[in-house]
Amino acid sequence: MNEFAQRLGLQYPLIQAPMAGVQLHALTVAVSGAGALGSLPCAMLSADALRAELRAIRDQTDRPFNLNFFCHAEPAPDAAAEAAWRDALRPYYDEFGVDAAKIAAGAGRAPFGDEFAALVDEFRPPVVSFHFGLPAAALMQRVKRAGALVLSSATTVAEARWLEAHGADAVIAQGLEAGGHRGIFLGGDLTTQLGTLALLPQVKAAVRVPVIAAGGIADAAGVAAAMALGADGVQLGTSFLLCDEATTSPLHRAALQSEAAAHTALTNLFTGRPARGIVNRVMRELGPLRSAPHPAFPLTTAALAPLRAAAEARGNSDFTSLWSGQNNRGCRAIPAAEMVRLLCRGFEATGASR
Ligand SMILES: Cc1cc2nc3c(=O)[nH]c(=O)nc-3n(C[C@H](O)[C@H](O)[C@H](O)COP(=O)(O)O)c2cc1C
Repeated sequence: MNEFAQRLGLQYPLIQAPMAGVQLHALTVAVSGAGALGSLPCAMLSADALRAELRAIRDQTDRPFNLNFFCHAEPAPDAAAEAAWRDALRPYYDEFGVDAAKIAAGAGRAPFGDEFAALVDEFRPPVVSFHFGLPAAALMQRVKRAGALVLSSATTVAEARWLEAHGADAVIAQGLEAGGHRGIFLGGDLTTQLGTLALLPQVKAAVRVPVIAAGGIADAAGVAAAMALGADGVQLGTSFLLCDEATTSPLHRAALQSEAAAHTALTNLFTGRPARGIVNRVMRELGPLRSAPHPAFPLTTAALAPLRAAAEARGNSDFTSLWSGQNNRGCRAIPAAEMVRLLCRGFEATGASR
């Protein structure tokens, strides 16, 4: 019997990764209903939209679920960095006839704060997970007082130790293979980042709290491998991207099913923080990781938004963030409950399911 699953009343210690921008409550509800832990990403939702999502979850399931928030520092606008970034994009503005003067700056992703904490108090989710560290101590205590088990992503052993020392109840060891944003929060040196196979056993040896493996796990064999390496549970994102309940756009779905998906890279072009996505035109032409000045996370997104819209209107994803992990072999256009069933066969040999 798996302690982590037992503590949450889950049938399987499998977490569907929260994925901002490609899912709402339908995926959460389907996964939780199938005996795993469904997640709802909140970073791109307003408080009103989150309230509506929470009502839908409460209406549709009484199973445990996870609410996920970003906890980056709110960036100060930097006019010089914004101007440098727009200069780099100028040839594309000319190509698409975009008037750069009319682009509104804006964040688009909000960190965890009082408004979100009030909704945690009101709806009392069994699990709250964070990306980019943990919120300030007072907010953290508030989440714990609401009864939530708190998880956060660690991309190094040092981050795992830090999370445990600051009150995380479990640590998600996010290997370099993972799709979407790196959870990195202690410094920004990407040479510190480890693959899942290297990170997981080292994190497991360094902390006492349960460790969830994430990154590159795409089928039952991958689930069994992570459990054999000592994981207390697994978290998968990419494999759920084609599921019926995900809101992944048709262009993103097409890219995931194309040969292009074989080549992913870390890029900071879309948001200002490194995230893994399928290499596309803007990543190829500007280089996926920009070291020249650019607005801080998440302000980088605004200047790219009209190019994304213009390209998408022409039917291409040249300027779209196509988040994906390195292993997309598990992607299937099937109901999420069926995906959970396929993946959870990996627990049979380990005795981790109930
Ligand atoms: C499309 C996409 C969006 C993501 N968005 C989030 C997010 O909003 N919050 C978060 O904590 N992690 C996010 N992640 C990262 C996942 O939590 C997880 O680390 C990753 O999906 C695991 O690797 P895999 O994609 O190889 O399964 C995202 C991943 C993907 C693929």
